[in-house]
Amino acid sequence: MSPKEVSAGIFEITNRGGKQLATKNLVPGTSVYGEKLVGIEDCEYRIWNPKRSKLAAMVIKKFNVPIAQDSKVLYLGAASGTTVSHVSDIVPDGIVYAVEFSPRTMRDLIGLCDVRPNIVPILADANRPQLYAHIVEEVDVIFQDVAQPNQSEIAVLNAKRFLKRDGNLLLSIKARSIDTVANPKKVFKEEVRKLEHGFDVGFKVLDSRELAPFHEDHLGILARVRN
Ligand SMILES: C[S@@+](CC[C@H](N)C(=O)[O-])C[C@H]1O[C@@H](n2cnc3c(N)ncnc32)[C@H](O)[C@@H]1O
Repeated sequence: MSPKEVSAGIFEITNRGGKQLATKNLVPGTSVYGEKLVGIEDCEYRIWNPKRSKLAAMVIKKFNVPIAQDSKVLYLGAASGTTVSHVSDIVPDGIVYAVEFSPRTMRDLIGLCDVRPNIVPILADANRPQLYAHIVEEVDVIFQDVAQPNQSEIAVLNAKRFLKRDGNLLLSIKARSIDTVANPKKVFKEEVRKLEHGFDVGFKVLDSRELAPFHEDHLGILARVRN
């Protein structure tokens, strides 16, 4: 069951459970949210369930995930750190700025940061990037999973301030957070249009795929600022 690296720092492990995604554990011996740990040769891997992570679902859906081991990542909608912990594994020489606005959830995230020094927790509303501009530097990648009606606008506000030229945006759009009754495909089309033409900064959408069956009515997007 030797692991196959499907993207930098992201592995596919084949064992009795079939094929599973995994990341190399930055803190061996520690499971973050009850995920299984698997030792292979000298390394320990953490199994990464695509049903619990939009980013893992994007990997399975064959997105090009532009994160390298020294990437600087701005993560919007960190929650208690399930996916953030895997991004922390993927960037052992980089940093993850993890923004979350729920104080209750932030408490768990801070516990995670105690053992993972490459995560910087930020208690803030992602609609107001000016409030964390003194903490966050220019980043290679923004990953966003906030489930809010103005998801595209939040992505633009943060990209304008923090995304480096040629940096990448990975975005999970939740149709039901934008319109509870509309056809999700219509909602997705409108969000892509807004990202490309709806704001003063325009993105070029490089790839978009629905994340079902892992996440129903979600669209994954990979985009770059149009220079
Ligand atoms: C779907 S959950 C994120 C799950 C997480 N990405 C993961 O995979 O582990 C969305 C999170 O975004 C947070 N959130 C929603 N709107 C936000 C905002 N404007 N600023 C910061 N966090 C926000 C919510 O509190 C919630 O924890």
